[in-house]
Amino acid sequence: MLTHEGRPMAVARTFKPRRRRMSATRSAAFERLLPLYGLDVEGPPITSEEIFGRLAPVAVEIGCGAGEAAVASAIDQPEVDLIAADVHTPGIARLMVDIESVGLSNLRVIHGDALEFLNRLPTRSIDEIRIWFPDPWPKPKQRQRRIVTRAIVTRLVPCLVEGGRLRMATDIVDYAEQMLDVCSSHPELAGGVVDRPSDRPITRFERKGIDAGRVITDLEFVRQT
Ligand SMILES: C[S@@+](CC[C@H](N)C(=O)[O-])C[C@H]1O[C@@H](n2cnc3c(N)ncnc32)[C@H](O)[C@@H]1O
Repeated sequence: MLTHEGRPMAVARTFKPRRRRMSATRSAAFERLLPLYGLDVEGPPITSEEIFGRLAPVAVEIGCGAGEAAVASAIDQPEVDLIAADVHTPGIARLMVDIESVGLSNLRVIHGDALEFLNRLPTRSIDEIRIWFPDPWPKPKQRQRRIVTRAIVTRLVPCLVEGGRLRMATDIVDYAEQMLDVCSSHPELAGGVVDRPSDRPITRFERKGIDAGRVITDLEFVRQT
């Protein structure tokens, strides 16, 4: 979104930087693996073909945590190229260790703000954006930090190809309602609540939600034009 002067409008960050606490071994792995598997958040425009060396469907997972779901789906769907993003350093370190040990060539990571990175990809280039169990930001004054807001969905939709999907899951009832409201009212999206997709791996936060007795809601919206 632009200000009346044509500058990008400041949007509250959807994450709170956390202090990184990692063992020396994990720190060393992070430093060694980031140049191999990481993509710079900022930089010149880049295409998925340049990143992965092939033309294939592309998915972006925003807020992948330690990447359990990203690794599982990269293994299950070798035909899809996946970019998984999180600001959480120990999580990205753990994810890259898994990429190396499994030997995955279809998974790359962003250590930083996924929304900034998306500016590097061409418009209409992503087949799927996945947001699994985003931070709930439950207090009223924190709500502006939620990632599924009108302003952010407006930024995400142009990244999708026609027929591309915005897929979300949450264990927070009022966040599911917000996702439904925001996405249903976007003129280029159609969709709603869906059954739990069989290809969505269980995530750490999903497990926490289930253990706490919360109801999981999956939503899927498709870009129409
Ligand atoms: C509640 S956790 C869920 C992690 C994982 N998806 C799961 O279900 O276990 C949400 C994650 O989103 C990350 N996050 C929030 N906003 C982000 C952004 N703009 N770019 C990258 N990561 C983000 C946070 O750092 C956090 O690790």
